Amino acid sequence: MKFAWPKPRSVTAYVGEPPPAGLPPGRPPVDPPQATKAVNRAVSSFRMTPPPPAKLGMDGGRGFPRRGSATYGLRMEFRPLTTADLPLTRTWLARPHVAEWWDGPIALEPGLRQVLAALEGEAIGYAQSYQAVACHGDGWWLDVDDPGVHGIDQFLADPAKLGQGLGAQMVRAFVAELFADPRVTRVQADPSPANGRAIRCYEKAGFRRVREVVTPDGPALLMHRDRVGP
Ligand SMILES: CC(C)(COP(=O)(O)OP(=O)(O)OC[C@H]1O[C@@H](n2cnc3c(N)ncnc32)[C@H](O)[C@@H]1OP(=O)(O)O)[C@@H](O)C(=O)NCCC(=O)NCCS
Repeated sequence: MKFAWPKPRSVTAYVGEPPPAGLPPGRPPVDPPQATKAVNRAVSSFRMTPPPPAKLGMDGGRGFPRRGSATYGLRMEFRPLTTADLPLTRTWLARPHVAEWWDGPIALEPGLRQVLAALEGEAIGYAQSYQAVACHGDGWWLDVDDPGVHGIDQFLADPAKLGQGLGAQMVRAFVAELFADPRVTRVQADPSPANGRAIRCYEKAGFRRVREVVTPDGPALLMHRDRVGP
């Protein structure tokens, strides 16, 4: 689930090109240092070093960075999104790799848990979660009646980092945080059926394909990852 409002059709290429309109002149095409510093105030963290096999537990080890990969053992952190982050997320949303699959702007919304993800203190993406039954009023997830079902959406900021396992790490870490709440029974995702990269990323993070559904945003592939154990 993203947002009910229409997807922006006009997007501006960002990386390697002049900054989008509205940004201060001379702004470099990199994330602002103050935002990166702010990420250091992370309120939660999840170390991505995979546990030894005997302690894999419910995660089963799937989706953890492989030994030798660029991000093996690096610390993934999340902190709540603030209004100060909105200019940064606007620049991310304008990047074509995000705009292709993400509807609408990002604003602070009371019904969403919204976080910035950081790897070793560097802001690398955005993630949000929602309680499915709380979305009924907007016409979403009407067939879900379990209050323990939460959904997620996310993206990585840097197109140069796609397809290297970072997204699966972020999803796995975010899901682990959600399951830390014992009331969460299931985490769902709803990528576009055409978004093969996101679907594969969710599978690597332990999600299974359930069925294609029609959401207020259009067709989606419903994917589940259920809580295993207490
Ligand atoms: C979705 C997203 C977070 C995934 O992060 P990522 O770092 O690219 O994902 P990963 O590298 O962990 O996994 C991607 C997998 O898809 C594969 N893949 C890439 N393009 C693919 C395609 N067109 N079809 C199928 N698989 C594809 C990759 O090879 C990789 O699988 P592998 O590790 O088995 O080789 C990131 O790509 C992103 O931000 N995309 C733009 C926004 C978006 O789509 N958000 C999701 C909305 S639901």
